[in-house]
Amino acid sequence: VGGAYIYIRQHYSGRLRILASSWAEANNRASAEEDESNKQESTGPEKDESHSSAAVGGPDNADAEAGAGKPKLPPKASPRAGGGASTKTKADKTPKASRTSGEVTSSMEEGRGGQHTTNGMGLSGRQVPTTFNVMFTFNAAVMGFGASRWMLEVLDSFDAIVTHVASSGRLQEECDVLALLLAKYPGRVELLEFKAVMLASLRSLLPKHWNSEHEVAWTWLWENVQRMLNANSGKPLVQQKALRRFYLGLSEQQLLAFRNGIYMTFFAKCAAGQEYFKQSTTRLHFIAYRIMVMTQDIYKDPKTLMEDISALGLRHVGYGVPTELFGPFVTSCIEVVRSLTGSDKAAEEAFRWSIGLVSRVLVRTINEGSTIVMRAINANCAKMLHQAASCAPRGERAAWMLKVQVGTQSISPLLWALSSGSLEAARAIIADLLTIRADRDNYYYAMDDLFTRHKDIVKRICVDGPMLLTALLDGLIWRSRQTENGKRRVNYFIKYLIVDPEGNFSESLKDVIEHEVWGQLAAFTFIVGKSWLLLNVCVFVATQAVLVDYHGSVSPSSRLATFVGRLFIYVFTLGQLVVRHFRRFWLAAKTKEFTRVYLVPVPNYLSNWPDLASLLLAGTLLLMLTCEPILHCMGQSPTSDAQYRSLGQDCEQAEALLPGYTALTFIVTLIYFLLLLDLTVFSTKMSTFVLVCGHISGELIQYLQAQIFIIIAFSCGIASLDHQNSDFLSIPETALNLSRITLGMYSGEEYGNLHWEPQLQAAVSLYSVVSLVFMLTLLIAQMNCAYLGISKNMLAYARLSRGRIILEIMGSVSAKRWRFFTDSLQLDQRLEFNEGDVGLAGGIQMWEPASDHPSCLDSIVRFGGSTSAATPWPEHGTARDEEDKFERLEKALSKAVKRLTKGTKGKGHGSSSMGSSSKSGSGGSSITSDDDN
Ligand code: HEM
Repeated sequence: VGGAYIYIRQHYSGRLRILASSWAEANNRASAEEDESNKQESTGPEKDESHSSAAVGGPDNADAEAGAGKPKLPPKASPRAGGGASTKTKADKTPKASRTSGEVTSSMEEGRGGQHTTNGMGLSGRQVPTTFNVMFTFNAAVMGFGASRWMLEVLDSFDAIVTHVASSGRLQEECDVLALLLAKYPGRVELLEFKAVMLASLRSLLPKHWNSEHEVAWTWLWENVQRMLNANSGKPLVQQKALRRFYLGLSEQQLLAFRNGIYMTFFAKCAAGQEYFKQSTTRLHFIAYRIMVMTQDIYKDPKTLMEDISALGLRHVGYGVPTELFGPFVTSCIEVVRSLTGSDKAAEEAFRWSIGLVSRVLVRTINEGSTIVMRAINANCAKMLHQAASCAPRGERAAWMLKVQVGTQSISPLLWALSSGSLEAARAIIADLLTIRADRDNYYYAMDDLFTRHKDIVKRICVDGPMLLTALLDGLIWRSRQTENGKRRVNYFIKYLIVDPEGNFSESLKDVIEHEVWGQLAAFTFIVGKSWLLLNVCVFVATQAVLVDYHGSVSPSSRLATFVGRLFIYVFTLGQLVVRHFRRFWLAAKTKEFTRVYLVPVPNYLSNWPDLASLLLAGTLLLMLTCEPILHCMGQSPTSDAQYRSLGQDCEQAEALLPGYTALTFIVTLIYFLLLLDLTVFSTKMSTFVLVCGHISGELIQYLQAQIFIIIAFSCGIASLDHQNSDFLSIPETALNLSRITLGMYSGEEYGNLHWEPQLQAAVSLYSVVSLVFMLTLLIAQMNCAYLGISKNMLAYARLSRGRIILEIMGSVSAKRWRFFTDSLQLDQRLEFNEGDVGLAGGIQMWEPASDHPSCLDSIVRFGGSTSAATPWPEHGTARDEEDKFERLEKALSKAVKRLTKGTKGKGHGSSSMGSSSKSGSGGSSITSDDDN
């Protein structure tokens, strides 16, 4: 076998080389790559902040991750060690490189476009074919194969076929998928026609280099492809039908047997598999069902399924499934199907073929996607992750941790770590990405990469690992080690907390609030919004508490003003509130955003207290309108000598309505002032105080509940006593007077009357002790503790509260004002780290008192030596390394102690000196066992 390999290598390596070089040339790749490498060699890394990070994916690539896969050619083979982390390094950013790769894609699309619009593979006269795909479509049209649409299918796969010709497994996989695709085309597929057009195109593209060796190599390639395609020719349709028939014919019991059987057989064959399939039986049945569906769908829609399998393969990387287990798993599936198919050999063959293909694609994806970073995440080990990242070229370090790409599918190691609960690894990734590293030429800081790749990273962290939010936020702050005039330079890299990559208001601010936005932008908009509320409060108070006097005489002008004011409140305030809440109810009903509170569905927006308060306000104002004295007195004769009857309140109906109406007025006034509490955000201190009051009110409510319970208990008890005191005869009277005692409203004289009734006096005294001594002291103690707990965070609470208001009013800030504000922040200007040391963009600089955050360590990790972006960072002593050193030292010590103990034991216990040694030995063994523990 070895000899055969050597022969084949020697014999075919020349052909493989020719194929690779001519294919690159035919697609303009060689020259582009050469240009790039030349350019890189001559100029070295650019000295700008674009290098501050290895740009990754970006939004469109994130789409690909979701499987939305736009038609793109898969990137070329990715680095295995770093695991195919597809990165857009400097080379990718140059226009030429992007043109080159983009050209192939667009030319394929052009070919297709031509097909669709001209019913053939023709080209417009303006285009000069410079790449294989364009040349192929041109030649196919010229040679009269314009109607052979199947050729486009082969053309689509041809790049992958040529690129992977040296790998027989991959070539077989590509040909199998192509065979499935070709089976969809009616009529005969003449593969020789493709060969003719292919050779003609290559000859036209490589006129200088084409020779007989090229002819032999390309013919050899095509014959191999043709043989593999012919082996499957005609089979897919037959197999699809057979498998469909088989699945449709399965009874419920057989289906259950299939789902159970797969795992039973697999676990019997390979016990290690049980360690991976730990989910509930129903979930395992679901997976088995998905496998069934996949084996059928691969015949129906091979292209989509290939994308799905790639994505599934990447998820299996995350599950940490070893590829060796796929063999036994697939065999188990086939055995179970064989037991169910009976004599239907076609169905068994169809299943075997499709599951084999699915499994091969999965295994390949796992192999390509199993990067060292992903392995570290599976182990949830920060140390492994650090080691993995340290192998990455410095220009690609961020990309290794943010993207693993296989074909058109990608997975983000960071998001995977978050969603799979590998939070230690996720923390290490975030810390690594947000560490500022520098060589002489560049600063490397992956903030841009992180937020461009994952726009919603803050949200994801809040949902999947809130404890990592501090790591993220800390990473966005840099503090200088040096101080000047008692001040320290601080750079807050908050660009993506304020604006998203498109320059709009960042969603991240929903989760983290930065007060900078407040002062410059939101405060004005807020005060404009609140001034309407202020006006309402003034009008309401004037018309209800200032201008009216229900029992005295009121001047005609005051009456008129009252009428106008109330009209204003009912029409504008109430009208606006009703419309607003009606709209929000309607929206909530449309989007089904309801939560059940004691079985009653309540729209989610009402969980925001100002909204709830404004709904209450609307309801109370409506009630007020129904019993508005002005309305009820219309046309009634006045009870006083009022001149303006039509506006009057002096009528019999009004007298009856007034108590209810004024009670509602009282409630509305309180709600209005409650809504005005928002104005305290102008002062952080006031806002903090209000928030603390709000948080502590829970304790007060608990106290009141307990107090009511005690009053009821004592009222019932005292009412049952035999006494003559009129204050405590019935239960309601007793409750009222006990409440007066609690509030200190019970006079000394009244207490004196209790002397005549010793039983009553004892009961009231007991109540006083319980309620005034015990309960009040408890309330104070409780409030004290609650205050201490809350006061630590109250400043943060106050800022969050201000943040909530910023978010609410952000919608009403005009685009122009927003642009003006973001421009004023100058987020694109690079900030100085220290005098003359111009660093990174994306933040704002402040000076804080040096004593606020004393620090004597420079948080920028600086490295000497080579400044090439292609070299990894040199090893650097971190805190973790220090820990490792201690670990190693501890292990060495415990080994030495063990050896010492053994040595002393071996020499016997004869002499007295040995006795002392054995003592120390026992001490040593105890250290060892501690260590082992
Ligand atoms: C042809 C082979 C296989 C196919 C088609 C396949 C398919 C699937 C599918 C469809 C899922 C559903 C979950 C998802 O969408 O992420 C899944 C999950 C999973 N698979 Fe596989 N699988 C295969 C082989 C294996 C093998 C050999 C193992 C390991 C012994 C394995 C372990 C797992 C695990 C651990 C899950 C996650 C289950 C969960 O958390 O819910 N798979 N697989």
